Amino acid sequence: MRHFTSVGDVSDINALVTRALAFKKDPWSKRELGQRRRIGCLFLNPSMRTRLSTQVAAQHLGMESILFNVGSEGWSLEFEDEAIMSGSTVEHVRDAAPVMANYFDILALRTFPSLQNLKDDYSELVIRQFIRFAGIPVVSLESATLHPLQSLTDLITIRECIEANPALQTRKPKVVLTWAPHVKPLPQCVANSFSQWVNAWGGADFVITHPEDYELDQRFTQDARLTHRQVEALQDADFVYVKNWSTYRDYGKIYCNDPGWMLTHEKLQVTRQAKVMHCLPVRRNVELSDEVLDGPHSLVTRQAANRVWAAQAVLAEILENLQHP
Ligand code: CP
Repeated sequence: MRHFTSVGDVSDINALVTRALAFKKDPWSKRELGQRRRIGCLFLNPSMRTRLSTQVAAQHLGMESILFNVGSEGWSLEFEDEAIMSGSTVEHVRDAAPVMANYFDILALRTFPSLQNLKDDYSELVIRQFIRFAGIPVVSLESATLHPLQSLTDLITIRECIEANPALQTRKPKVVLTWAPHVKPLPQCVANSFSQWVNAWGGADFVITHPEDYELDQRFTQDARLTHRQVEALQDADFVYVKNWSTYRDYGKIYCNDPGWMLTHEKLQVTRQAKVMHCLPVRRNVELSDEVLDGPHSLVTRQAANRVWAAQAVLAEILENLQHP
C-alpha cells in the first residue's frame, strides 16, 4: 500500500481486517517496523478519536508522531493551481507539502468539505494536491467525501461481532445505514465511505434508509437497497449504523429534519437484536436516544477503541512498502 485515501487502496479487505484484529491481540508485535520513521498528522479540522488513535497506533509501531493543527495554528493554505494569492491564503500547498515531506516519512491529513460547492468538494482537491506535491505516502484522516479509517474500523467491529455470534456465520448479516436528524448540515463522508466499504467487502445484505432528498452519490451506494421507510429497513437488521448527512444533490442543505428519524429503543424491536453503530461524536437524543447509546446493543465505544487497530494495520502496510533509509 502506498497511500490510503479510500477502499480502492486496499488489495484485500478481509486480510487488512485480520491484521487489525491481530494487532488488537498483540499491539506491540511490530514495534520495530516504524523505528526511525516519523508521521506528520495534519489537522485542518477538529478531531478527537482520529487524532488520538493514530498517534497510539504509530507509537505501537515504534514511530514518532508529530501533530500539527494547520487549521488553527498554521498558515492558511492555498490549493488551487495558478492562484493569485492576494487574498487570505498565505502559503501554497506546492511549497508547503515538499517541506513537510522532508520532515516526515508519512503524511496523514484531515480535512472537511466546504459544503458550498459539490464539484469542488467531490474533486478532493486538498488530498490530491498533498499527494501530488509531497511525494511521500499520504493517509486520509477524513477527506471532503470519505472517511476510510472509520470505515475500516466499522468492518473490524462488524467482523468481531460475527465471530462472536455463530448465528451470523450461517448467512449474510443485514446491515442498515440509517439517516438521523442533526442540528447543522454535516458532510456525507461517513455515509459515503461506509457504503463504499460495505459494498466492496460484499459480506452483507446492505440497506440504506433516509428521508426523501437525502440520496447519496450512487458511486458509493451502488446497488444497496434504498427505502425511505425507516421501520421497513430496520426489520430483521443485525447491525444498524446511525449517521446524519446533509443533502447531496442540492448540495449541503438540510431539508427534512424530522425528529421521528432518531433511533430509539422502541424502533429496535423489529430488528434481530441489532447492534447499533455510530462513528461519534454523537448528538444525544437528537441522532440516538440515551437508552440506545447506553444500552447493551451499542457498539459505539468499541468502534472508537477499534480506531487504533485500523490505523495500525494501515500504517504497518505503508511502512512495509517504504524502503529503509
Ligand atoms: N469518528 C471520528 O472521526 O471522530 P473524530 O472526529 O473525533 O476524530
